[in-house]
Amino acid sequence: MVKIAKMLFALVMGVSSVPGVSASIGNPAILPTPPMGFNNWARFMCNLNETLFTTTADAMKANGLLAAGYNRLNLDDCWMQYSRAANGSLQTNTTLFPHGLPWLADYVKSRGFKFGVYQDSGNLTCGGYPGSKGYEETDARDFEKMGFDYLKLDGCNVAEEQGRNLEQEYKYLYGKWHDVLTNSSSPMIFSQSAPAYFSGGPDFSNQTNNSDWYRVMDWVPKYGELARHSQDVAVYGLYNVSQYWESIMTNYGYEVLLARYQEPGFYNDPDFIISDWPWLTLDEKKSHFALWASFSAPLIISAYIPDLTSKELAYLTNKDIIAIDQDPLALQATLVSQDGTWDVLTKNLANGDRLLTVLNRGNHSAVTNVDLRRVGLRQGDTYQAKDLWTGNTKSIKNSINIKLPSHATAIYRVAEPSWIIPTGMIFNTASKRCLTAGPASGKTSLTFTNCKATDNQVWSISPEGQISPLSAPKTCIMADSGGVLLSSCDVDEETQEWIYYRTGNLKSTSTEQCFMDLAPMAGMGTCGDEMDMQVFGLPSGVAIVR
Ligand SMILES: *[C@@H]1O[C@H](CO)[C@@H](O)[C@H](O)[C@H]1NC(C)=O
Ligand SMILES: *[C@@H]1O[C@H](CO)[C@@H](O)[C@H](O)[C@H]1NC(C)=O
Ligand SMILES: *[C@@H]1O[C@H](CO)[C@@H](O)[C@H](O)[C@H]1NC(C)=O
Ligand SMILES: *[C@@H]1O[C@H](CO)[C@@H](O)[C@H](O)[C@H]1NC(C)=O
Ligand SMILES: *[C@@H]1O[C@H](CO)[C@@H](O)[C@H](O)[C@H]1NC(C)=O
Ligand SMILES: *[C@@H]1O[C@H](CO)[C@@H](O)[C@H](O)[C@H]1NC(C)=O
Ligand SMILES: *[C@@H]1O[C@H](CO)[C@@H](O)[C@H](O)[C@H]1NC(C)=O
Ligand SMILES: *[C@@H]1O[C@H](CO)[C@@H](O)[C@H](O)[C@H]1NC(C)=O
Ligand SMILES: *[C@@H]1O[C@H](CO)[C@@H](O)[C@H](O)[C@H]1NC(C)=O
Repeated sequence: MVKIAKMLFALVMGVSSVPGVSASIGNPAILPTPPMGFNNWARFMCNLNETLFTTTADAMKANGLLAAGYNRLNLDDCWMQYSRAANGSLQTNTTLFPHGLPWLADYVKSRGFKFGVYQDSGNLTCGGYPGSKGYEETDARDFEKMGFDYLKLDGCNVAEEQGRNLEQEYKYLYGKWHDVLTNSSSPMIFSQSAPAYFSGGPDFSNQTNNSDWYRVMDWVPKYGELARHSQDVAVYGLYNVSQYWESIMTNYGYEVLLARYQEPGFYNDPDFIISDWPWLTLDEKKSHFALWASFSAPLIISAYIPDLTSKELAYLTNKDIIAIDQDPLALQATLVSQDGTWDVLTKNLANGDRLLTVLNRGNHSAVTNVDLRRVGLRQGDTYQAKDLWTGNTKSIKNSINIKLPSHATAIYRVAEPSWIIPTGMIFNTASKRCLTAGPASGKTSLTFTNCKATDNQVWSISPEGQISPLSAPKTCIMADSGGVLLSSCDVDEETQEWIYYRTGNLKSTSTEQCFMDLAPMAGMGTCGDEMDMQVFGLPSGVAIVR
């Protein structure tokens, strides 16, 4: 089954551009790597206008951002008038955009940019302007005529209707847009905010049941290229100082729950890069950038571009880190370990290199030593690791020592290891508890406990689908009639083979049952539809049945 999973993956990856087929993982050529550019929202909210966009375009061309790959300028909410024209079309606010949007489209395109627009799937936008409900074809045709090739479709003011529950209504409305965009003469990138409306509020405080959030995540890859999966990053000026870094960490926290959905052509979107905000330290801004790049997330800056400092521009245009973001595999780095202070992440890169990203979440400068086995590498081998901030390469063996100030991130590219195995945390994405080898009723038991970055919480997954803890690498998770336990690894043992699905389910090949977080114990049960206790995050690089 694992081999079949790999074949399925290869099939999806093999699809090339089909003219007239748009907006979905069915056509990864529409957006082979995550988008980069500018959006006004987080920095200016409704205070957008023509001058802001012409000034931004000119500045990005002059200061190297365009050359570095930031080639999209996207409008957000509040660009339109409060009512549609008699013929049904949206009307641009001509006080804000005196020359009209087709003129602005020509302006930005003549300078090398692409142009994106905002609309809402309900009957009003979040700002109270006319939404697209019932006008999908009209709006799509008008957007195309006006010169847009990117649509961010928000999800305010959507309500249950005609026997459809809320999740089904979003699916209906976004599905309608998918059909309309698939029909358009040129592909339009489709950024979907639907999942954000099911993600549960700040710090998951209002999240009692993730089922609908996961269900929405199950269909967005079929409808478009991007999932705005959680809330907006804290907008400029409206929050207290500490809330800006917390907001970045909140969106980071949602992102790590969804790695399984990302593939070339479809990206999880944890929202904008906020680069000129006085309430963040330079280390925090650089961390934000390095983490988003490690995720192969969209790099869409919301800032007043002409005033970016040379230090801000230097990190935003770091070629080595942009290359991580734009890596053709488009893998989202996954957590190796998490202990409250240190987050360690890793992923594979297209040329065979391995990424190592380490974040100090603590409030003080600190030192950590990362065992290379935790990153899926072998002990004893010598590796060349390039520090992507300094460009310096050093030899490492067995472990790497990292010293970081508070809220700073180290990012290394480890050259061409001869051997890599998917390794990292296995955690329940609802409870955030880590799968742990032992110790409830002995060393062979499996439990779900708080993540502490110990070796019995770091797991490697073999090509045969066998799962072993770093603390006891010769033991494998085995399913039996009573549940799960660790037993001696045996490649011929079907009860030790596991298959990971995009739904987050981890199924036993032999029993076809689903792995479960029954804290404190791990267990098995009949597979349900996106049940909280059956949805897991696994290390990147593991085969995923989609
Ligand atoms: C355009 O928007 C920017 C950012 O909000 C603002 O600073 C500027 O004054 C506005 N310009 C005009 C002409 O309205
Ligand atoms: C256009 O925007 C301006 C500035 O925000 C606002 O005062 C005006 O009411 C808007 N016009 C329309 C027709 O919505
Ligand atoms: C409505 O009129 C405007 C202005 O003439 C035009 O650009 C637009 O295409 C029309 N919309 C429809 C749906 O015909
Ligand atoms: C918006 O939709 C809701 C139900 O979905 C409906 O009750 C309401 O009247 C609509 N508002 C407008 C302005 O169409
Ligand atoms: C797609 O285009 C065809 C032919 O122009 C049209 O008949 C059909 O209604 C369109 N479908 C959608 C969903 O726009
Ligand atoms: C929590 O969710 C419920 C139901 O969706 C909603 O009515 C309520 O306003 C939310 N509370 C907060 C604090 O977000
Ligand atoms: C979560 O919601 C689903 C329906 O969407 C329901 O089947 C399930 O029982 C709920 N789970 C919990 C723990 O409430
Ligand atoms: C900022 O802090 C003040 C004082 O603690 C508090 O009253 C206010 O609600 C906070 N603002 C936000 C946006 O949380
Ligand atoms: C850092 O400080 C903040 C605010 O003082 C506190 O809430 C947080 O728990 C601290 N973080 C750690 C990892 O100690």
